[in-house]
Amino acid sequence: MNNPQKIKRILVVGSWAKEEITIENLKKNPELEVFSYLDTHNPGISERVDGYCLGSLSQVENILNYAREMKIDLTLVTTAAPLAAGLVDAMEEEKMTVFAPTREAARLESDKAFTRELMKECVPEAIPRFNVCDTIEKAMDFARQLNWQVAVKPIGLTDGLGVKVFGVQLNSEKEVEDYITEIHSQKIGGDSQVIIEEKMMGEEFTVQCFVYEDTFIPTPAVQDFKKLLNGEKGPNTASMGSYSDCNRLLPFMNSADYNRAVQIIKKTLAGFKKETGAWCRGILYGQFMLCRDGIRLVEYNYRPGDPEWMNTVAILEDNIA
Ligand code: AMP
Ligand code: GLY
Repeated sequence: MNNPQKIKRILVVGSWAKEEITIENLKKNPELEVFSYLDTHNPGISERVDGYCLGSLSQVENILNYAREMKIDLTLVTTAAPLAAGLVDAMEEEKMTVFAPTREAARLESDKAFTRELMKECVPEAIPRFNVCDTIEKAMDFARQLNWQVAVKPIGLTDGLGVKVFGVQLNSEKEVEDYITEIHSQKIGGDSQVIIEEKMMGEEFTVQCFVYEDTFIPTPAVQDFKKLLNGEKGPNTASMGSYSDCNRLLPFMNSADYNRAVQIIKKTLAGFKKETGAWCRGILYGQFMLCRDGIRLVEYNYRPGDPEWMNTVAILEDNIA
């Protein structure tokens, strides 16, 4: 990385609340000039930055050109599409400084099969039983074995809307079969494979951390509410809102639970390094469930949570830069 003293011009890639709060925080440092590349006109961003460009977040070359043109010293990529499109790899090839995961590391978010298989090796006690199924028959057989107490998941990115759980969004064996068939035939998330997982039950929470190779800084736990309606009812949304509490914890957890979640993330990162030989960088989001018999990982996002990042940035003592 460049010497942080020399970083004056920062580009933030993404359009949502997590980018807006990042930019608001960066702008508290009067020495920084902050730029945005976004695909949706968010006035909370455009009114704060020193310059912005509207364009597709999957068009790596256009984002690179904008970063070159604006003479950017550091780029933060906090949204999934450009990560999966290889923006970080392209920037690193051009010797640009960027704090975000490479396409390979972003698989921790963009490829649920890769992540479950990796965790089966390095932290097996933290995942539910699962099977990555390439046919409808295999998926149905495994769902039957689990007595239909399952979560049905596409492998790839679906903006947080692809997972359906028995008893929540799926209310009969027929609905499970229909959804498996839909994922398989329409390649939801970009792949015809389907993950069938044992349904977990418990309170969910998130731990986000700054990762730079072997430097690892966890931030306080946050709880997010995804269901559209009051009383945890209705379909999942990307989020309806989130909260955090004091001492890094939430009302239903203790510090051993928090430490366990942090340890699961650390073991996953060590497993990733062992498996691929590559380091991870960027803001990693681990979503956990506190189940009766321990803590399980629901999923990773290799980006800050939206809106969980607001809870985190609001209490940072330092400027993000
Ligand atoms: P994800 O997109 O993987 O975060 O999943 C969205 C939501 O589905 C999570 O927040 C959980 O509420 C739920 N979910 C995912 N996997 C499971 C599982 N194995 N058991 C129960 N609920 C799950
Ligand atoms: N709030 C959930 C997410 O950022 O994916």
